[in-house]
Amino acid sequence: MSAHIGLFYGSTTGHTDAVAELIRDEFGRGMVKLHCMAEAKKQDFANYNYLIIGSPTWHIGKLQSDWEAFFPEFDEMDFSGKQVAYFGLGDQLEYPYNFLDAMGILALKITSRGGIRVGSWSAEGYDFQESKALIGSKFTRLANGVEAVDGEFVGLAIDEENQPELTEERIRIWVTQIRKMMGV
Ligand SMILES: Cc1cc2nc3c(=O)[nH]c(=O)nc-3n(C[C@H](O)[C@H](O)[C@H](O)COP(=O)(O)O)c2cc1C
Repeated sequence: MSAHIGLFYGSTTGHTDAVAELIRDEFGRGMVKLHCMAEAKKQDFANYNYLIIGSPTWHIGKLQSDWEAFFPEFDEMDFSGKQVAYFGLGDQLEYPYNFLDAMGILALKITSRGGIRVGSWSAEGYDFQESKALIGSKFTRLANGVEAVDGEFVGLAIDEENQPELTEERIRIWVTQIRKMMGV
């Protein structure tokens, strides 16, 4: 079976790389193809109706560097009709005012280019102050077309520094949810 879903991710120190592989494995063989942003081209996105987008947050609220370099290309891309799920990695204790900001930045941009977001994730069980990835924050309200909904992230939240023991279970639950929503 050819891959239904393109998973695009950036990773500087390898955590997001490892999480991307776990997500792919959770979907099962052949369903998800991984594309590292160190090499991906904008044409690669066109092959899929279903996308998963992953980024850690770096340097206090910034995109991972491969996403940062790619970011201007989004303005020439059309995500209309594509269902897009997001996951982010961050460190909630070290960066409590910018926890997972990159996930919110990517969700806002891709939604503004027509992408249909799927796969919210409860913010319960995390300890932080502010995040651009929260649905209902001023930043993401546009991306979600809704008024404030407290307590949910735009996508799966992973913290390998402080909660690595929860990662596999979080992935299992989230993949089950987005499979249902995507119908795959
Ligand atoms: C210099 C530095 C800055 C960081 N800035 C943030 C941040 O603003 N927000 C956040 O949630 N995590 C931040 N992190 C944590 C990373 O997102 C986390 O370590 C992540 O797992 C790295 O993913 P990677 O190994 O795929 O690059 C930062 C880490 C470092 C070393």
